[in-house]
Amino acid sequence: MKKATILLLCAATQAVAHPGMGRVMAEIQARDDFVLGARSGSLLGDLLSGVLTAVGQVIKDILQLGTGAIDPGSGGSYTPPGKLGSSACNSDTLCVWYYVASQMWGDFADAGGCTDLGRGAIRQGFHDAAAWDVNSAYGGADGSLLLSDELSRSENRGLEEIGALTKTYYSTYHPYGAGMADIIQLGAIVGTVACPGGPRIRAFSGRKDNSRAAPTGKLPLPAMDAPTLIDLFVKKTFTASDLVALVGAHTAAKQRFVDPSRAGASLDTDPQIWDASFYSETLTGDNKTTFILHSDKALATYSVTQGQWKTFAGSSGQSLWSPVSVVSLYEW
Ligand code: HEM
Ligand SMILES: *[C@@H]1O[C@H](CO)[C@@H](O)[C@H](O)[C@H]1NC(C)=O
Repeated sequence: MKKATILLLCAATQAVAHPGMGRVMAEIQARDDFVLGARSGSLLGDLLSGVLTAVGQVIKDILQLGTGAIDPGSGGSYTPPGKLGSSACNSDTLCVWYYVASQMWGDFADAGGCTDLGRGAIRQGFHDAAAWDVNSAYGGADGSLLLSDELSRSENRGLEEIGALTKTYYSTYHPYGAGMADIIQLGAIVGTVACPGGPRIRAFSGRKDNSRAAPTGKLPLPAMDAPTLIDLFVKKTFTASDLVALVGAHTAAKQRFVDPSRAGASLDTDPQIWDASFYSETLTGDNKTTFILHSDKALATYSVTQGQWKTFAGSSGQSLWSPVSVVSLYEW
């Protein structure tokens, strides 16, 4: 289950399921039934077993049917039964998460939308989860990004501040049962909803923490070309279309280390808002107005991914990529 978390982070909106695990790039291109918008729907770990818990069934349905196809629950307001650490709070499994999410909201949202820390939290969730592929015996959304020395890896530059803050969340809330992996993934969800237009996403807890540093070489790099990126994500059970949807998280992104002379330049014109303008600005925009990563431009223009990219860049892009009609799934 832990390895499935990135799909829950950034809403991919198509609902055509077909198996994608382990397929290599050449096979994707060879498929004459490859359709734009195809979603992997692959299952992992205990989700493959015949016997699922109620929560496991919900996760399976989200992965295979799409977020709109399941009952999101009440989504209503939640009042904690007591102060953090009180016996009433300790005996209610949601209670600690109310306090974690409340503190995150104060850090990740301001009057303009999501903050630098909110953007960092979204990327941080991706970098913990995506240091894994189907050939890895360990790694994934296991908290190792902050429980090991992974932050010192070059691909994680820029995560120093959110990493330090998240470690303080862990010190505060771990005594009441909150694990690092769950805190990191909840942070990515709160960071996403802090950007106006960002989909509310159902949060799950219960991931197993691991202080062993994740395998290297699993995260994408901005110098990669499109076939390499597609292959990298296929090995994480994402289709090429899933990748195009996921990378739209760069709607809420700034760069600091690709070109330090342009530190703070954003990847679209309004990084505090979760809108689809990132797709059109990457496709046709000027690399001086916004900062266009080589990798994003490559996906925008490559034969296999350009159709999906143009769909999101088009006039219905916002409703297809991050539809407001999708039921709100963020609940405490
Ligand atoms: C093609 C795959 C990807 C590549 C090559 C890539 C690369 C990068 C790079 C180079 C930066 C700038 C880092 C810096 O210099 O500070 C960045 C920022 C960011 N990325 Fe990605 N990324 C990819 C996919 C994703 C995905 C799938 C997500 C989320 C689901 C994501 C979320 C973010 C966010 C939110 C930021 C902004 C962080 C900030 O403003 O501090 N990225 N990415
Ligand atoms: C945009 O400019 C930056 C340097 O500021 C460079 O690293 C990047 O590759 C350029 N993007 C494209 C698509 O050429």
